[in-house]
Amino acid sequence: MELNFENITKSYKNKQVLKGISLTMGTGVYGLLGPNGAGKTTMIRIMADVLRPEKGSVTYNGNDIYAAGDEYRANIGYLPQDVSFYDDFTGRDYLEYSAALKGMEKKRAKERIGELARSVGLSDDLNKKCTAYSGGMQRRLGIAQALLDDPKILILDEPTSGLDPYERIKFRNIISAYAKDRLVLLSTHIVSDVEQIAAQIMMMEHGIIQHVKTCEEYIRMMEGRVWLVNMPAEQLVDYQNRAVISNVRAKDGCMVVRVIEDAKPDGGAVQAVPTLEDAYLYLFNYLPEKNGR
Ligand SMILES: Nc1ncnc2c1ncn2[C@@H]1O[C@H](COP(=O)(O)OP(=O)(O)O)[C@@H](O)[C@H]1O
Ligand SMILES: [Mg+2]
Repeated sequence: MELNFENITKSYKNKQVLKGISLTMGTGVYGLLGPNGAGKTTMIRIMADVLRPEKGSVTYNGNDIYAAGDEYRANIGYLPQDVSFYDDFTGRDYLEYSAALKGMEKKRAKERIGELARSVGLSDDLNKKCTAYSGGMQRRLGIAQALLDDPKILILDEPTSGLDPYERIKFRNIISAYAKDRLVLLSTHIVSDVEQIAAQIMMMEHGIIQHVKTCEEYIRMMEGRVWLVNMPAEQLVDYQNRAVISNVRAKDGCMVVRVIEDAKPDGGAVQAVPTLEDAYLYLFNYLPEKNGR
C-alpha cells in the first residue's frame, strides 16, 4: 500500500497554510506532530477527501484519490478533530447511522458495533444519549466510528484529546494492533501519544513537514544536547529567556533544570537521557522570547 502526497498546497483567503507537502506513507502508524495552527487538520482533511488542495496531487496505489472518488473513500476511516452529535442520538444510533452511511450490511454492522463498543469500553453506555457522554466517551465513540468498516486507511485528528491516562494507553494499544497491515495517520500535539507507537513521526510547522524520522532517530539526534543543571530559583527567570527548558524540578532548596543546549552549559551540568519531547522542543525552538510565550 502506498499513499503519496505530491507538492500539496492550500490557502485560506490569502494565507497559505500548506506550503508544498510531499511525502509517501505505507502501512504502520504515522504520527503527525506540530503546534496548533501548523496545518495538521488541513492536511488530514485533504487526505480524507473532505477538502481539495489548491495544487499538487494525492495518489493511493498510484491512482489520483479525487478521480477515484467513492472508490478511494471506501478505504477511509476518519475521526475529525471536532465531532458534533445529534441531540437525540444514542451511542448506538450514532454508530448504526455511521455504518449505514458507509454502506455496511446490517448484520455485519451490528457485529462490528458490539465488538468495537467492547474494545473502546462503551458496551454499557451505547443506549445513552451521546450528548450525555463525557468528552472522553465521545472521543471513544468517535474512534469506534472511524474503525467501523475496517478501513485500510485510518485517519485520526487529535484522537486522544479528552482521554484520561488509562484511556490513552488503551487507545494506543488498539491502534498499534490495528496498524499491523494498515495505514494509520494520527495527528496530535501530545508527544507521548505517538512516542511509543508511531513508526514514523512527522513534525509539521508553518504548513511544512519539517522532519520525518523514527522516534529513535529523533532521540539519537538529541544525544549530548539535553542537560541537567542545578541553579537557585532567582536565576531561573533570566535563564528561561535564553535557553530551551524542558523541565524544572525543585530539590533540596535548589532548582534542577532540564535544558536543551548544543554545548554543555556552565554550572556543573550533567548529560540527561533525551526523549522525543526534547526533540520536539529543540526542533521547534521553543525559546520563550521567540514565541512570545
Ligand atoms: N476554514 C478556515 N478558514 C480560514 N482559515 C483557516 C481555516 N481552517 C484553518 N485555517 C487556518 O489555517 C491554519 C492551519 O490550521 P489547521 O490545519 O487547523 O492547523 P492544526 O490542525 O495544526 O492546528 C491556521 O492558521 C488556521 O487558523
Ligand atoms: Mg488541528
